[in-house]
Amino acid sequence: MSNTQVRLKERPVGMTNASTWDIVNGEIPEPGDGEFLCEVEYISLDPAMRGWINDVKSYIPPVGLGQVMRAGTVGTVLKSNHPEYKEGDTVVGTLGVQKYAVSNGDFCYKTDTFGLPKEKFLGVLGMPGFTAYFGLLDITNPQEGETLVVSGAAGAVGSVVGQIGKIRGCKVIGIAGGPEKCKMVVEDYGFDACIDYKNDDVRLGLKEHCPKGIDIYFDNVGGDILDHCLGRLNFKGRVSICGAISGYNSTDGPQAPKNYLSLLINSGKMEGFIVFNYRDRYMEAAKQLGEWMMAGKLKSKETVIEGLDTFPDTFNRLFSGNKMGKLVLKP
Ligand SMILES: NC(=O)c1ccc[n+]([C@@H]2O[C@H](COP(=O)([O-])OP(=O)(O)OC[C@H]3O[C@@H](n4cnc5c(N)ncnc54)[C@H](OP(=O)(O)O)[C@@H]3O)[C@@H](O)[C@H]2O)c1
Repeated sequence: MSNTQVRLKERPVGMTNASTWDIVNGEIPEPGDGEFLCEVEYISLDPAMRGWINDVKSYIPPVGLGQVMRAGTVGTVLKSNHPEYKEGDTVVGTLGVQKYAVSNGDFCYKTDTFGLPKEKFLGVLGMPGFTAYFGLLDITNPQEGETLVVSGAAGAVGSVVGQIGKIRGCKVIGIAGGPEKCKMVVEDYGFDACIDYKNDDVRLGLKEHCPKGIDIYFDNVGGDILDHCLGRLNFKGRVSICGAISGYNSTDGPQAPKNYLSLLINSGKMEGFIVFNYRDRYMEAAKQLGEWMMAGKLKSKETVIEGLDTFPDTFNRLFSGNKMGKLVLKP
C-alpha cells in the first residue's frame, strides 16, 4: 500500500489544467504523539479551492507551491496516538487531496454517520449545508410569504438554501444552468420555479416569477445575475453574498455590481459571510439539517467521481457545471 497526493505545482492563470498539479506516490505516513492516521474516503471539491491557489491575501492563507492541495475530507481513523480519536472513528476535516493523511485533530471533528452515506457529510450535512443554514438564516432572517431568489440553485449550497426557504414558508425561485438542472430544482427540491440562465433571459424570468419583487437574494455566482437581482430588490431587501463563482477564473477579478444603488433606493442591505466563522455553531446546523433530512424535508444529490488521477479534470466540473449536486472525489 502507498499514499497518493495531489500537490500544487504552479499557480494557474485563468482555469486550472493538468500542469497546475503534481500527482505523487509515496509512503503512508506514521502518526506521531498526539496524532492519528486517517484513510481519506471522500474528498470535497469546492469552488473556493480555486481562490485558495491564488497568491493573494484572503480569509485563509494560499496553498503553497509543492504543498498537498487543501480540501475538505471524510474518512476513517486507522491508527491513533491522539487522546480524542480512536481506530474506526469517522472524521470530517480538512485533510487535503490525498489517500492517507496524518492529523493532530486541528480543523477536524468526529461524527456519527447514522448509517447515511459518508459523502453527505461533505455536502448537505457538512460545510455546504452549514453555509446554506447560516448564510440564509443568520444573514437574511427570512419570513413567511417573502420571495427568495437563489443562484447556483442546483449546487451543494443553493439546493439547501432553497429547501430551507421553503421550510420557512418563502416563495423560492432558483437560477441554474440547463433544463435538466432546473427540472431537478423544482421537482426534487420543491422550489416554486427555476430560471435557466444558460438558455433564458434572467431579467425576464425574474419579472415573470417575482411579480412582487425580491425580498431576499442568496448570491452564489455574482456577475450579471447579481445585477439582475439587485434590479428587482424590494424595500428592506437583503442580499447574502455567499460566493461569486462566475468570476473565480477571471483574470480581471470578479465583476463589481453596477446596480448597487438599488440598496440605497430600497433601504436594503448586502452582507457577506464566511462559514468558518460559524465553526462554534456547526453542531447546531448539523442537528437541524439532520432532523430535516430524517423528516424527508431536505433532499440532496452527490456526484462521486473515482480516482485521484482524475482530479485535474474533475475539479473543473465545478466551473463547467458538469455534475449534479455536491461534487465529491473518491481517491
Ligand atoms: N461564503 C462561504 O463561506 C462559502 C462556503 C461554501 C461555498 N461558498 C460559495 O458558494 C457558491 C456555491 O458553492 P457550492 O459548493 O454550492 O458549489 P456548486 O454549486 O455545487 O458548484 C458550482 C456550480 O456553480 C455553477 N456555476 C459555475 N459557473 C457559473 C457561472 N459562470 N455562472 C453561474 N453559475 C455558475 C454551476 O452550476 P450550473 O450548472 O447551474 O451553472 C456549478 O455546478 C460558490 O460561489 C462558493 O464559492 C461560499
